[in-house]
Amino acid sequence: MDLRIAFMGCGNVGRSFIAMVAEKQAELWEQEGLRLLFSAGMTRSRGGWVLPEGITAQGLLACGWPQADAPLPPGARRFEGSDLSYAATCPSDVLLELTTLEPMSGQPATDYIRAALEHRRHVVTANKGPIAHYYWVLRALAASHGVALRFESTVMDGTPIFNLKEFSLPVTRVKGFRGLLNGTSNYVLATMAAGSTLDEAVAGAQRMGIAEANPGFDLEGWDASVKASVLARVLMDADLRPPDVVRDGLGAQAMRAAHEALTSGHALKQLVEAARDADGGVSATVRLAALPADDPLARLKAGETGLTLHTDTMDDLTWIEGNGGTGQTAFGVLADVVTIARQYYTRKAPPP
Ligand SMILES: NC(=O)c1ccc[n+]([C@@H]2O[C@H](COP(=O)([O-])OP(=O)(O)OC[C@H]3O[C@@H](n4cnc5c(N)ncnc54)[C@H](OP(=O)(O)O)[C@@H]3O)[C@@H](O)[C@H]2O)c1
Repeated sequence: MDLRIAFMGCGNVGRSFIAMVAEKQAELWEQEGLRLLFSAGMTRSRGGWVLPEGITAQGLLACGWPQADAPLPPGARRFEGSDLSYAATCPSDVLLELTTLEPMSGQPATDYIRAALEHRRHVVTANKGPIAHYYWVLRALAASHGVALRFESTVMDGTPIFNLKEFSLPVTRVKGFRGLLNGTSNYVLATMAAGSTLDEAVAGAQRMGIAEANPGFDLEGWDASVKASVLARVLMDADLRPPDVVRDGLGAQAMRAAHEALTSGHALKQLVEAARDADGGVSATVRLAALPADDPLARLKAGETGLTLHTDTMDDLTWIEGNGGTGQTAFGVLADVVTIARQYYTRKAPPP
């Protein structure tokens, strides 16, 4: 079976996705009877193209798109309309929404997703913003148009959190969660514990490409707040927006002070916690916490992330992701695409 994929945004994650499909196409065919073809692409600076019959991942890699100096894929024509009309009309079965995160509004990505769903295209996104701000609206829109909205890579890259909850934890209530969800903060704090200053640790994270040029988004807890909001909305059905998450004693100055005050046998971490309130709502906080050595999250190494779900069926379940990055994020996008193929399309038997 052929599935046609369109890109809305194709930066680090999108390029990793193309490379992963090129590497995995034979296994996708053998194990899933699935061939992925790329039928449209758009980025902010490069504009859009469409190619209804699609091109393979190898073909796309060979032509070099979306590099700045690369030509359009062979046979593609330039898309002349607006970005919204592209999301609504580009020839595709699945739109991959991989544009830049806007944490305070989730826009314009939410409008792209909305346009694609309204025109009966499945959507896979790695972008936290639309899910944190508009999950319920988008979920209802997908259901009413008979298409899928999947977003595994929005928290801990491709670590199967939402898919595991959906497929392997039936009738399970998530009572709360705690985790280290921001890889940059964990890297910086673990590197300080090993003797570096905060400035050295931040510079190291920037050299490795895991911290933003302005690391405040990570260190001041905004990234973790958006992720907490996604987890609370999806797993706990809670109306918790990123600004509703309490960010307590964060930022560079607080990290230096907490590091100075740390007693031996403890590890300093940026901890996210969420729990259901007596009134049925959900409260969440992001704060610096001195965790005792026997806390599973205290043992996370620099760059790792972890999450524990408190459930009514399996008690506590904990995930730890080793050094994550765009490869793992691209895998989560691929896993979502495969799930859509399994759920919405009749599989042809793979060749003998
Ligand atoms: N990097 C990771 O490991 C990771 C992990 C989890 C989640 N995510 C999420 O995945 C998404 C993509 O991340 P990334 O690292 O690939 O980002 P990136 O390298 O900055 O790429 C973003 C892409 O989106 C395009 N874009 C931005 N605004 C657009 C618009 N209005 N219309 C069309 N295209 C637009 C950019 O185009 P130009 O390049 O032409 O400007 C670029 O192609 C983000 O939402 C991010 O938060 C990333």
